[in-house]
Amino acid sequence: MDNLVISLKDIWKTYRTGLIELTALKGINLDIAAGEFTAIMGPSGSGKSTLMNIIGCLDQKDSGVYHLNGSDIKDLNQNELALLRNQEIGFVFQSFNLLPKLTLLGNVELPMVYAAIKRKERAKRAMDALDAVGLAQWAEHRPNEVSGGQKQRAAIARAMVMKPALLMADEPTGNLDSQSSTDIMKVFQELNRAGTTIILITHESAIAAFATRILQVVDGQIVSDTSQSRQAQNKKAAG
Ligand SMILES: Nc1ncnc2c1ncn2[C@@H]1O[C@H](COP(=O)(O)OP(=O)(O)OP(=O)(O)O)[C@@H](O)[C@H]1O
Ligand SMILES: [Mg+2]
Repeated sequence: MDNLVISLKDIWKTYRTGLIELTALKGINLDIAAGEFTAIMGPSGSGKSTLMNIIGCLDQKDSGVYHLNGSDIKDLNQNELALLRNQEIGFVFQSFNLLPKLTLLGNVELPMVYAAIKRKERAKRAMDALDAVGLAQWAEHRPNEVSGGQKQRAAIARAMVMKPALLMADEPTGNLDSQSSTDIMKVFQELNRAGTTIILITHESAIAAFATRILQVVDGQIVSDTSQSRQAQNKKAAG
């Protein structure tokens, strides 16, 4: 396949805590192309977050081969991995993970601080990112002064401010009411239409309906992989 963003071949991962061993991933094979919007579903404990953490280079596989944008992850050192996470991948989590002492603007600026982008440029780009998610007038507020949906939109702005090609979200609507969830999914859909590759974990089929591809993970394995046309995606997401 052309322009593969992610290629996983026979990925295994076992956690060891004391005497207990738990094999969370059992031979995952997965290809994801640029521009796909993939939802990962499956029961609690099935290995979804483990898979996402390995794809996002937040954790390491025990065995198997992982190519990200054509490079074998095993050839990258810690600095190169950190750079990749900062420049190429945006992350959104269920619990928002915003820093409470910073304003929304300050939170969105953070990835650019790590990337050593100058202050003025940072403020401008952070403001543009907040504006893109409809939060321009909330820029100077702290996370505890805004709603859950607004917090998550700020987290998306933070994830997108470096313009990563890949956006990963682990249960991004898990703490939101259904209206805010729909709003957030519309933001994801717009980003996907503008070219961002998205991988999102969810328990809810109404949320997965926004994706173009749905994977089911059960007991550390992908047991189903279905694609839906944009047309079907639009219809389902609207109804
Ligand atoms: N850091 C860890 N140390 C030990 N075991 C872990 C660790 N992280 C996950 N596990 C175990 O690995 C398995 C897969 O966990 P994972 O978090 O990937 O599941 P999940 O599908 O994301 O579940 P949920 O839907 O509840 O978030 C579970 O049995 C879990 O207990
Ligand atoms: Mg999880």
